[in-house]
Amino acid sequence: MNLPSKPATTVSRRFSVAPMMDWTDRHCRYFLRQLSRHTLLYTEMVTTGALLHGEAARFLRHDECEHPLALQLGGSVPAELAACARLGEAAGYDEINLNVGCPSDRVQNNMIGACLMGHPQLVAECVKAMRDAVGVEVTVKHRIGINGRDSYAELCDFVGQVREAGCRSFTVHARIAILEGLSPKQNREVPPLRYDIAAQLKRDFPDLEIILNGGIKTLDECREHLRTFDGVMLGREAYHNPYLLAQVDQQLFASDATPISRAQALRNMRPYIERHIAEGGAMHHVTRHVLGLGQGFPGARRFRQLLSVDIHKAAQPLALLDQAIGLLEGH
Ligand SMILES: Cc1cc2nc3c(=O)[nH]c(=O)nc-3n(C[C@H](O)[C@H](O)[C@H](O)COP(=O)(O)O)c2cc1C
Repeated sequence: MNLPSKPATTVSRRFSVAPMMDWTDRHCRYFLRQLSRHTLLYTEMVTTGALLHGEAARFLRHDECEHPLALQLGGSVPAELAACARLGEAAGYDEINLNVGCPSDRVQNNMIGACLMGHPQLVAECVKAMRDAVGVEVTVKHRIGINGRDSYAELCDFVGQVREAGCRSFTVHARIAILEGLSPKQNREVPPLRYDIAAQLKRDFPDLEIILNGGIKTLDECREHLRTFDGVMLGREAYHNPYLLAQVDQQLFASDATPISRAQALRNMRPYIERHIAEGGAMHHVTRHVLGLGQGFPGARRFRQLLSVDIHKAAQPLALLDQAIGLLEGH
């Protein structure tokens, strides 16, 4: 009998952790997955150039446990994006996402990210080419506008054209991007959040899946937004306070599994870290992403110091890890 290599999965975007360069690498995602089974995880943005002319296998590498897992691509040449989407699907990703939100100068020169909001027809062509190339869902993450093109009518024009190309799921970072004069960091803080505009979009495009992103910090806020939106995406808060994810399955996915303890989540990382060290990697490549577990209990400071300072002079990193796990015990 000819069984499909992988059963078709329907990805739930009810709760996701945002794509974040330098942060949501495979080690980070492996760790986040210990905390929540159902959260959708995203890779860092990978440019078409990196995938087509770099080491594709290195950029696409991930562990089976990371699913549900989406690959975020940066690019604007339809044929290249189609080729990269194919690579992503073949590597097993559950969704391919196009970045139309990143405001960095470095990427603007190459027509990647938020500047594409000024070129809705090109984005539509990109999405169509990607959808024609793969069976997994193609989604778009975007802003509510860019300077000089920030009216609601222009946002609707963008979403409308991309919908015509077949995209059904839009993740809206609910602020505009200012393409000159602000750093990427300022562009995540300075332009005001406009959840009202994202909500209007959901009302005007009720058939589309609209995921809200930007400034969300608690699961109570998530529950509130889920009355309006189809899903919520958390970036910085999920990274700085990852233990928040331990409650997500119960609170947002109606799971009856008991939330994992901080100590158990880190204990689960031990064999992974051992393997990484055996491959020639350093423990801090992995443990830099777990520092946020050390928040809000006696010993939290010591925990962070162990894994951010002492680690660099540790002769036996795994012994230090065990010490760090011990500090989490009971919290
Ligand atoms: C360190 C960092 C790197 C980011 N890299 C990406 C990226 O690669 N692709 C992307 O679409 N957005 C990127 N973002 C933006 C986030 O995905 C998200 O839209 C933004 O942080 C707002 O959500 P938040 O307020 O929950 O953090 C990045 C954000 C941070 C903090």
